[in-house]
Formats: sequence, C-alpha cells, structure tokens
Amino acid sequence: MKSSAKQGSLIVSTGSAVPDFTINNYQISQIVETSDEWILARTGISERRLLTDYNHSVIDLAVEASKQALEKIDMDPLKIDLIILATSSPNDLFGSASQLQAKIKAFNAVAFDLTAACSGFVIALVTASQFLQTGNYNNILIVGADALSKWTNWSDRSTCILFGDGAGAAILQSCSLQNNEILGFHLSTDGNYSDQLSLAYQNQYSPHPSLKLAQGSFNYIQMNGREVYKFAISKVPESILLCLNSLNLSADDVNWLLLHQANDRILKAVADKLSIGSDKIISNLNKYGNTSAASIPLVLDQALSENKISKGDIVVVSGFGAGLTWGTVVLRWMSD
Ligand code: ACO
Repeated sequence: MKSSAKQGSLIVSTGSAVPDFTINNYQISQIVETSDEWILARTGISERRLLTDYNHSVIDLAVEASKQALEKIDMDPLKIDLIILATSSPNDLFGSASQLQAKIKAFNAVAFDLTAACSGFVIALVTASQFLQTGNYNNILIVGADALSKWTNWSDRSTCILFGDGAGAAILQSCSLQNNEILGFHLSTDGNYSDQLSLAYQNQYSPHPSLKLAQGSFNYIQMNGREVYKFAISKVPESILLCLNSLNLSADDVNWLLLHQANDRILKAVADKLSIGSDKIISNLNKYGNTSAASIPLVLDQALSENKISKGDIVVVSGFGAGLTWGTVVLRWMSD
C-alpha cells in the first residue's frame, strides 16, 4: 500500500441524514417487553430514527447526505469519478448506487453497491483509497446508508431495540503523498461465524409444480448478541493494534477512537483494552442507535461539525459486524 501508491487520499467533505421520526426506549417498551432502564444500561441507546414514510427510502437519505457533502465544498457532482454505496438494505438487490448517481446528477461516476453490513463504510473507505492511490480516479463519493428497520423483527426485543436508520457520506480526493490522510488499514473476515448475525434468504415455495425450483424471500435480522459482543471486544482491539503497530504508532498516539456505534459497552471495552481514555471515544449512539453502515460516517460528520477533530489528529476508525467482518483504518486528519 505504501510503496506502490502514486497519490494519497484525503477526506475533503462529509454529510449525513437521518429520518425525522424518533422512537425512544419508552415507546419501544410499548411494543416489546423491555424498559428504558434495560436498554440504556445494556446499550447506551435512548432513541433512534426510523424511516416511516412510504415515499422515503434509504436512497433518499443517501441522496441528502451526499448533496450535503457536495454543497459544503461547492463541488460539481459531474466531477465525481466513482460512487461506492455501502448498504445491506438497498432499494434494489441489483444495486442501488445507480439510483443515487442519477439523483445527485453525478453522471460521470461509475457506481456500485458494497454489502458488508456494519463494516461497510470502513471497507468502502479502503476500497476508495485503493482507486485513488493507483491514480485511476481523483474524486470518489462513499456513502454508508442503511434502513435496518425494514428488516427488523419488531417482536424480537433482542434486536429491535438496537437499530436506527440513517446515511453518512464522505468525499475522498486524490492528493500528494505528503498530504495522504489514510495512513494504513487492516481488514478481516471470518465466515465460520456468518450464522451469528444474518439477514438470510430462505426458500419458501416452488413457483410451479413442474419446476424443480424454490423461491422465497429474505428473513428478518437474526443475531446471537452475546457471541457478537464477545467477537467485537476481542477482534476490534486486535485489529486496531495490528494496524497501529504496522505504522509504528501506539495506542498513546490515538487522539480519537471512532468505532462502529453498536453498543456503548463495546466502545468502552475496546477503549479499555487499548488503555485509551473514554474521553477519546466519539459517540452518538444515545440518539441514533446502531445505524449499520451509516454509523461511522454519521458520527464522523457530527464530530467534524462540532470541531472535535483537529489538523494532525490520529483518528482510528473501526467497523465490525455481520460476515463476520471487521476492520480498521488509521487516519491522520489533514484539514483545519
Ligand atoms: N429488554 C429486556 N431484557 C432483554 C432484552 C431487552 N430488550 N433483550 C434481551 N433481554 C434479556 C435476555 O432475554 C436475557 O435474559 P435471561 O438472562 O433471562 O436469558 C438477558 O436480558 C441478557 O441477555 P443478553 O443477550 O446476554 O444481553 P446482553 O447484555 O448481551 O445485551 C445486546 C444484548 C445489547 C444485543 C448485546 O449482546 C450486544 O450489543 N451485542 C452486540 C451487537 C453488535 O455489536 N452487533 C454488530 C453490528 S450489527 C450488524 O452488523 C448488522
């Protein structure tokens, strides 16, 4: 990655969008047997946003987040070379990135979807940086957008309390190698545990008695929360350390820990394992819950709007989730 790079990559703008409708823990306790106390203590979540309007979809959120990112730097969408839409809840299984391309009028961009659940944005960030470093593209829009409320079993209290809908966007630009912001990455997958967290297709019927075919649909989200929790707190610190070590950095050098917003206890356990103070954790879990691929760009956009991150800061970004997949990107923030 370091030696073959022709140019560096820089995040030049971000944007985010969430639906208007808020549902708090008390309201969820009217739907399933749970309580505000339990949810807050076990997850850190108080409320989340859900798409309720039949006319609005995950792509509308992705469009809003992308337009915001473009407008912040007054960028002509025709300058975008590539759009990567990280989503596991697309409007169209053939891919929804092209809908986003058309709606933001980025007609010169190649557009494709990337499916990796809660790790989607981190993998999109790494993928985009590869296209920039080879010199093939100069401007890439990456979007993490999910509406898991569509795939949540609203009678399963172990999952329906967790998820919220949202979208976050980032525009990456090529730059000189000295200004490179993406210092390094580490990505992993362990498919042996894919059944611990899934949104799986299930055969249900034969379309015609004379055809030896089966057709079906996708099931609700199924998660073994305890196992995913254990996986996250063991593999994420390992991934972060591997990545930092490869860059001759240590946990002491980290200014901000920007993890996938799954559970407050996971964020704190990861920070503890790395001896990173909890004041360095960036979080918006309390207000938005787990927004899957959107969670990292959403919280990044918020942190930037609050001027939390300064030029020169080392920001560790880590995602984890279904697959099981996990990964880290280490950034040295280059903008003022
Ligand atoms: N309200 C009240 N009680 C509940 C609820 C609820 N909403 N949910 C579960 N319980 C009960 C359980 O039934 C269990 O009761 P029991 O002891 O009588 O059997 C008890 O609470 C403890 O259940 P656990 O599952 O052990 O609870 P835990 O403390 O592990 O919290 C949680 C569950 C929040 C799901 C946690 O395991 C977690 O956050 N896991 C990781 C999730 C995650 O990171 N996912 C990855 C990304 S998602 C993606 O990729 C799409």
